[in-house]
Amino acid sequence: MLGGDCEKMARRQDSTRMLYSLVYTSQATTRFGAADVQGLVERARVYNASHHLTGVLFYSEGQFLQVLEGEQTAVKALFAKIQRDPRHHQVQVRREEMVRRREFPYWGMGLSLVPVGVFTRLEQFIPPLPGDGMAREAPRPSLRGLLQPFVRQQR
Ligand SMILES: Cc1cc2nc3c(=O)[nH]c(=O)nc-3n(C[C@H](O)[C@H](O)[C@H](O)COP(=O)(O)O)c2cc1C
Repeated sequence: MLGGDCEKMARRQDSTRMLYSLVYTSQATTRFGAADVQGLVERARVYNASHHLTGVLFYSEGQFLQVLEGEQTAVKALFAKIQRDPRHHQVQVRREEMVRRREFPYWGMGLSLVPVGVFTRLEQFIPPLPGDGMAREAPRPSLRGLLQPFVRQQR
């Protein structure tokens, strides 16, 4: 279940409850070619769609930045698995918050392979959370506004 079906399902589910959004960055521990990342995302989409999880994964030369959105327990359960995944390390949470709607509702998980210069800009847009893990007080621009321009149509 992808694309339109996933979006309709997500919207129906979302109308009554708050959602959770988490953004992290990490470094690959093994060599990842484009085909490896695509294979990872193909498998992830099956799980994510069946757990009403959406988001986008950016990849550039061994670096990941992923947005995960969905019901809080579902996001946290997946993130716990992702953190244990030996294919990457230095997993650093950059944003986590309750949100009213999904920023990337269209995919079980979008994929964007970006040049390293673009990846560096994405990291600058979304600095790591302060050490206490608390979100900062100042209002922050929406993830969609920050990231959407860099999402290529690589589904
Ligand atoms: C950077 C990165 C992002 C990942 N994103 C997802 C994801 O969105 N959904 C998913 O099911 N697995 C994702 N995975 C794979 C999980 O870490 C894990 O391998 C998968 O959930 C299967 O876990 P299990 O064998 O413990 O059930 C990702 C892995 C990496 C390295």
